[in-house]
Amino acid sequence: MSVRVLIIAAAALIIAAPVLWFGGLFAASELHLRDVSHVLSFDHPIPTNAASLERGRHIARTRGCFGCHGQRLEGWDFDEQWDWPERAVAPNLAAHARAYEPDVIEAAVRRGVGHDGRALTSMPSYNFTRLSDEDLAALIGFLQSAPVVEAALPTARLGWSARWSLLTGSDRRMSDWVALVPALSVDADTEPQLARGEYLAMTMCNECHGLDVRGQWFYQPPTPDLAIAPMLYSRAQFERLIETGVAADGRELGLMALVAPDRFPDLSDTEVDDLYAYLASLQDVAPAENVAWRPLD
Ligand code: HEC
Ligand code: HEC
Repeated sequence: MSVRVLIIAAAALIIAAPVLWFGGLFAASELHLRDVSHVLSFDHPIPTNAASLERGRHIARTRGCFGCHGQRLEGWDFDEQWDWPERAVAPNLAAHARAYEPDVIEAAVRRGVGHDGRALTSMPSYNFTRLSDEDLAALIGFLQSAPVVEAALPTARLGWSARWSLLTGSDRRMSDWVALVPALSVDADTEPQLARGEYLAMTMCNECHGLDVRGQWFYQPPTPDLAIAPMLYSRAQFERLIETGVAADGRELGLMALVAPDRFPDLSDTEVDDLYAYLASLQDVAPAENVAWRPLD
């Protein structure tokens, strides 16, 4: 073989290797994202009366749909705010709720699988998986009734590092996180207030405080076990904390300060009471060890 042929072969390899590498990573990660169950099963009737629409609005406000999908539900491009390893684009929810059937929306909101049968990656479905059928139906009814505000949105893009993390298991598909969320455990017949508080905590606070609200250190920044809240804060101070995201001693609590004023002022006094009582009841219960969101190493 002449030197010339060798040089050409080496050059071809140098050009082909990255193409093969990135092509393989792309194909394998797409297969992984699509290897999820997309069984559609939600057939709860969607209410349209005024009380249900108001309930749906309250759920959308307190669960942060407006914060991420735009204050007019027109959609939002996350690149404007954060330098994520991907371009996350939250779609126009009012338009989406008209384009897709409620069972398709249920799979996305509660199970982390999008309309195209592909696992979601940024939408925090683990925070909504314990929403009741009634609340989800009221939420969908509200979204269908909200005026559609047209806004130009870029195409979402999953970055290479995000694809690599998903394939190597250093991060999970949203549907995998959803599957790890503990069941609600308080008996509503014997402990109605604690059951209401657990429902609120497990559909509002577990977005950031661990899937069981007992703290997490899988993602940065680590967030504390919420059993500490009633120890550190009186009922009045607690209300101020969750409505402003500012700690009793004036510390700004990062992401909490960003989302709390958008979501939690909409909570009623009873809801704040219920949440506070539930968090206080956790003080006697030891948090689970070595769960995915609080790994040992
Ligand atoms: C932390 C930000 C965030 C919050 C809070 C949030 N979303 Fe999303 N949502 C996203 C992003 C980003 C996407 C795009 C898909 C992805 O990247 O995972 C999305 C996608 C969706 C989709 C479309 C999924 C598909 O492709 O079929 C629906 C429906 C949806 N969200 C509904 C909701 C509802 C309802 C709420 C409130 C209960 C909500 N979202 C709260 C960020 C958020
Ligand atoms: C979007 C993410 C996010 C959500 C949702 C969220 N938190 Fe937080 N929270 C944080 C972060 C981040 C911190 C600060 C961690 C740090 O830097 O110490 C924090 C801190 C706290 C603290 C500690 C205050 C202190 O004095 O140190 C309490 C209590 C708390 N949150 C309660 C709640 C409750 C109750 C909810 C639900 C109603 C909630 N959080 C929802 C992100 C969040």
